[in-house]
Parts: sequence; structure tokens; C-alpha cells
Amino acid sequence: MAPDRTIEQDFTEAFKTSESQYRRAMEAIAGGVTHDVRHMKPFPLYIENATGSRKWDADGHELIDFVMGHGALLFGHGHGEIVEAVNQQMARGTHFGAGHELEIEWGERIKQIVPSVDRVEFTSSGTEATMMAMRLARAYTGRDKVLKFAGHFHGWHDYAMVGEQAPFNRKVPGIPQAVVDTMVVAPVNDIAFVEQALAKGDIAAVILEPSGASWASIPVPDGFLKQLRELTEKHNTVLIFDEVITGFRWAPGGKQESEGVTPDMTTMAKIVAGGLPGGAVGGRADIMDLLAFKDEPGWNAEKKVGHPGTYNANPLSAVAGATCLQMAANPRVQKHADELGVRLRTGFNKVLVDENVPGFVWGESSVFHVILGETCENQTGGDIHIPQGVDPVRLKSGSDAKYDHALYQGMLLNGVDLFHGGGLISSIHTEKDIDATIDAFRKTVTRMRDEGMFK
Ligand SMILES: Cc1ncc(COP(=O)(O)O)c(C=O)c1O
Repeated sequence: MAPDRTIEQDFTEAFKTSESQYRRAMEAIAGGVTHDVRHMKPFPLYIENATGSRKWDADGHELIDFVMGHGALLFGHGHGEIVEAVNQQMARGTHFGAGHELEIEWGERIKQIVPSVDRVEFTSSGTEATMMAMRLARAYTGRDKVLKFAGHFHGWHDYAMVGEQAPFNRKVPGIPQAVVDTMVVAPVNDIAFVEQALAKGDIAAVILEPSGASWASIPVPDGFLKQLRELTEKHNTVLIFDEVITGFRWAPGGKQESEGVTPDMTTMAKIVAGGLPGGAVGGRADIMDLLAFKDEPGWNAEKKVGHPGTYNANPLSAVAGATCLQMAANPRVQKHADELGVRLRTGFNKVLVDENVPGFVWGESSVFHVILGETCENQTGGDIHIPQGVDPVRLKSGSDAKYDHALYQGMLLNGVDLFHGGGLISSIHTEKDIDATIDAFRKTVTRMRDEGMFK
């Protein structure tokens, strides 16, 4: 029997203060939200404070958080050691306009943990890191083009946004055609396309999310990274792993460690800066050295790759990053979060099968994605890494909006904040958190079913 109130009606009533804050935001902030991914219908959530695995919204609801700072908070909100280190640094100074020991320590920690990194350079975000990695690769090879894969996200600079959203050949507003012409967008996981493109000899770099697009939403097949490594080596093309999400999460050394494939360059952000703004690009010394000032005869200053940036390696991000990486170097951290990932994905899929709700949940490491309204061929109520028989465009874009919104609102009504139709688990979440989340999922999808949404 259909309940007499809809999920959306209950949501709108329970989260009233967020609605009024959103109305206010619409007058001051373009589009009301400060990151496209935070746009939500009928309105996004406004949060007041957070600690550990929880956060509290403007109406006082306690929520188990799976947004986790867009994946930046491997140790949850307000981890004691990071907070303490940042507070102390705050009193000592937030910007010296000069070098400081913390940036050296931060760089050393990255170098120790990430296999591909001989040298590192800091940026203020992942977007800047991928922009710099592409620039270094162009300068190193003397070639202009960069190959990326359809659907892979590398931030929001002009080169990165080409081919990111479906339809992947669409014109992206505001991006010059001259920039588009320097990007070669390979179809998802198409190694033959890459081979043909690299053989032309004009591609500086191949960049990809080594998990596959948007943190394993379109996973890469087994052996794919190794094949890319071989091809890029053969054609003297720089291989860039964008480990902004996978870095320090898939393993302490990221996907390159868990897969045993070492790229030439790696881009990092999120966890690398311990939850504060920051990013880094690292890689082979001979490539990274293009950033160096060299006091040697014959050195051509015009060949140096430029690298300004007011907030690069600022002391607050440096101390948060160094403190976080010291903890993230212990593989038990990732193991705990990964185990919770398996528990959550398995629990959600079991609910869908038990309750006869069309849908599937998949992911790797400590991330998960949910699609409702259709199923995949290998839905058996267990964990899924690669959903079979589903269009990759669907995997990237997620459920139809009506399911997505109802899931989001229903989970919030049951005390859980999802991210982008899925989520990222931290090492601070507990089995109890996951079981409460599975329970919230059961309540939400059965209510959606009883509202007749899947007919
Ligand atoms: C794989 C990947 N690369 C790059 C970026 C851009 O990082 P930022 O948002 O710090 O600019 C993101 C952000 O989500 C990302 O997931």
C-alpha cells in the first residue's frame, strides 16, 4: 500500500532550515551552490558541524557521513592529531612567503610512500596538479597533445573538462576550440584506440584515473594499467596517474602500489593535504627537474616550466598533510576502510535482492556507487567490482534523477548523507556505522518501492 506522504514531502518538512538557507544563498552565490556536485533537488543540505564519522545539519539531524570532504577525510572529521597540529601552526604563522621545514617534511613523506615520486611539487588543488602534470609532460616531450579517457575527471581546468561529461564529444561552454584540439579523448577502456593514437607520435601524455572514471564508477579491466604502461613506454609518452582520489586510499601508495604499475607522474590532492586545501604533482626526477632553476653553464632559463601559486605548500596544509600521511602510511588504515567497503556493498546488494528492488551497488577499496531502477547481470546479492552488461555512460552518470533524489532524501531522513549516489568510507567509520547505513538503505528503498517508484 502506498504511504500517504512522499519521501520528498517528509524531506522538505524535516530539513526546513536548509531550504531557507538555500533561498538566501541563491541571492548571494551564483547558482546557490559552491561546487556543482553539491547541487541537489529540491535544495542542498547546510551543515553546521562535524566530528569523526558524523555531521550535523542546520536542523540538528545527526548524519553518518559518506561525503567525507569529497574523499579528503581518510581519518574522518576533526581528527585529534591533525586538529592539534593545525592549531599549533595557526599560532606560529599561516604564510611565510618563504620556504619552511614542514613543506620539506610533507614532500619527503609523499616520496617515501608513493612509488613513482622522485620529486614533488605542491599546488593548491587537484585541478592545478593535473594542469601542471600535463604542462610538464608537454615541455618534456615537446609534443602538444594529451590523451585522456571519456568520463575520467581531472578537475575543472580547460583541458580537463574536455570529454568528461556524457555525451563525451559535446562542446563544453567557455572552452576554446584550440584547447579542445589538443585533447584526444579515448573511448572508455579502449586499448586499441590508445595504441593507434600513440603510434602517430604526437601525444605528450596519457592521463587517467587509475581506478577508472570517477573513483571506479567505470572500472578498468584487469591488466589495463599494465598495457598502458607498456604502450606509453614504447611511444615515449608520459604516463600520468591521477591519484587525487585513489592516492593513500587504495593502498598507502595508491592504486600504483596496489596494482604494481608505476607511472611517470602522479597527481595528488584531497587526502594528501589532510583535509585542508592542497595538491601535489610528483614523478620522475628528469621530468620534475623542468621546474628547477639551474645555476649551470648552458642552462636555458626559457626552458624552465613556470610554477607560481600564493598558497602552494602553505604551512597549514603542509602540517595537516604531513600529519595525515604519517598515519596513512600504515596499511591497516586502508585495510579497515576497505573491509567496511565490502561490508557496505554486500549489505546493500543483499537488501536489493531480498526486497526485490531493481538496482546494484559496486566499487573497489573503500568507495561505493549505487544505481537504482535497473540491474546488472552479476547482481547476486554479494559484492560487485565490475557490473556486467551495463552501459558505461550509465555507470558514470548514475541512476535516473528521480531515483537519485529519492535515495538521497530517503537516506537523509534515515540519518545518512550519501555523496553523488554513493560514498567514500573513512578509517574512522565503524561496523556499527555501516550496519546502521544498511538499515537506512533498506528503509529507503522499500519506501521507494512502496511509493510505486519502480513500476
Ligand atoms: C580524480 C580527480 N582528479 C582531480 C580532481 C580535482 O581536484 P580539486 O577538486 O582539488 O581541484 C578531483 C576532484 O574531485 C578528482 O576526483
